[in-house]
Amino acid sequence: MPQGGNAQLSTVVLAAGEGTRMRSSTPKVLHPIAGRPLVEHAVRAAAGLDPDHLVVVVGHGRAAVTEHLEGLTTALDRKVTTAVQTEQKGTGHAVSCGLSELPGDLSGTVIVTYGDVPLLETETLSALLAEHSSSGNAVTVLTAVVEDPTGYGRIVRDTVGGVTSIVEHKDADEDQLEITEINSGIYAFDAEVLVDGLSRIRTDNAQGELYLTDVLGIARGDGRRVGALVCVDAWQVEGVNDRVQLAKLGAELNRRILERWMRSGVSVIDTNSVWLDAGVTLARDVLLEPGVQLRGSTSVGEGATIGPDTTLTNVTVAEGAKVIRTHGSDSTIGAGASVGPFAYLRPGTSLGDKGKIGTFVEVKNSEIGTGTKVPHLSYIGDATIGEYSNIGAASVTVNYDGVSKHRTTIGSHARTGCDNMFVAPVTVGDGAYSGAGTVIRRDVPPGALAVSGGPQRNLDGWVVSRRPGTAAAEAALAAQKAEEQQS
Ligand code: UD1
Ligand code: MG
Repeated sequence: MPQGGNAQLSTVVLAAGEGTRMRSSTPKVLHPIAGRPLVEHAVRAAAGLDPDHLVVVVGHGRAAVTEHLEGLTTALDRKVTTAVQTEQKGTGHAVSCGLSELPGDLSGTVIVTYGDVPLLETETLSALLAEHSSSGNAVTVLTAVVEDPTGYGRIVRDTVGGVTSIVEHKDADEDQLEITEINSGIYAFDAEVLVDGLSRIRTDNAQGELYLTDVLGIARGDGRRVGALVCVDAWQVEGVNDRVQLAKLGAELNRRILERWMRSGVSVIDTNSVWLDAGVTLARDVLLEPGVQLRGSTSVGEGATIGPDTTLTNVTVAEGAKVIRTHGSDSTIGAGASVGPFAYLRPGTSLGDKGKIGTFVEVKNSEIGTGTKVPHLSYIGDATIGEYSNIGAASVTVNYDGVSKHRTTIGSHARTGCDNMFVAPVTVGDGAYSGAGTVIRRDVPPGALAVSGGPQRNLDGWVVSRRPGTAAAEAALAAQKAEEQQS
């Protein structure tokens, strides 16, 4: 805990606003960057402080937002309270709604943040808390100095630099509009001062709203210490209002995530074309080639190479594997295994160590054992294949009879021929072989050779008599003539 003694720490995340400028049927705070909704970034930053209370104020689209927050409770293994603000009457009103879900005799410090400010880091909140307590402030506001302060609340300071108030853009006079130090909307409050101040704010302003910012002026007017901490890294306090900002902050977050992994030993050939979700983990000496997107909970083991041009979602790649031009999700790839180019791994694919899923191969809900290879042009679905087997090119597990899905089981050290159809449910034993073009409808015992179809018949002269005048017939006649002349 950043605070001394047993003072309580509460955080309130404001996320009730509509986000009209997103022009979306999805609530603004549920739009994702780096694979996580904006509000999740905000909640994770707040949760990083390990506060006693964490409350998110929801309003617009609250059913969907609340549902996401419930899932997050499990992921973070902590309580996340939601408070409902049915009508958006301003940031002060929103915080009052948040506090109504917390104990009535709240004490200690309350941190307020926004659900649409996704790059804010826990470290910055810790620094804000440290400044708040070391200066003995009643209110400490996180500020930033920006080139274009349009739209933001301005930080008004007295002649000795002390913060006196925050003036909203719409309420500012000409001199105040010149101020480039802006209110980030992130604060630390003494709980009692906040509760008292919120009971005294009024709507006598340009927007007719209950401004949280007025609590600061009230505290100062009461003779309390009010301070500011300037956040030098302005990205961290930037909010998302439209999809242009969403993309801009998404790109910046991606840049930061890449930088963190590169500093921990990952090589990225082209940082402009590699996108990593926040939940991805990479080991040392992973190589990411151009055009790679790693999403969700994907993890990549030491020395593995991903790409070029590969998208993996929730895929576990073990050390030393190579995954080239592949699209995969919810799958595992063993150590030293090789996948692609042009492979499609659907959910439930598990490839063993040193195994191979090769070119133009689709795999779904199947286990492919250690050292087993499916090198070319095949579909493996609902199958279990043992160790060190080889599946011939252009083979298909015929898993669907039009009504139900069935399993194919192939043993270890099997060698199945090219263009085999495994009509499931069917089992091929250990060490079995099959001929090219075999349609395997019945189980093949261990060590047997399976062949199907009768001997080949050639109907001589068929094309010339049945397809007279075609190019094929002409070619056949010419070939016959040439043969006759030779003999
Ligand atoms: C607010 C600040 C302004 C600051 C700016 C930083 C006030 C009065 N002004 O202005 O000084 O520079 O943020 O971005 O606080 N929200 C609710 N319920 C409401 C109103 C807002 O939950 O009734 C939430 C919004 O979803 C948003 C945040 O609070 O996440 C800020 O609201 P917004 O309307 O964007 O405030 P600004 O007018 O931009
Ligand atoms: Mg705003």
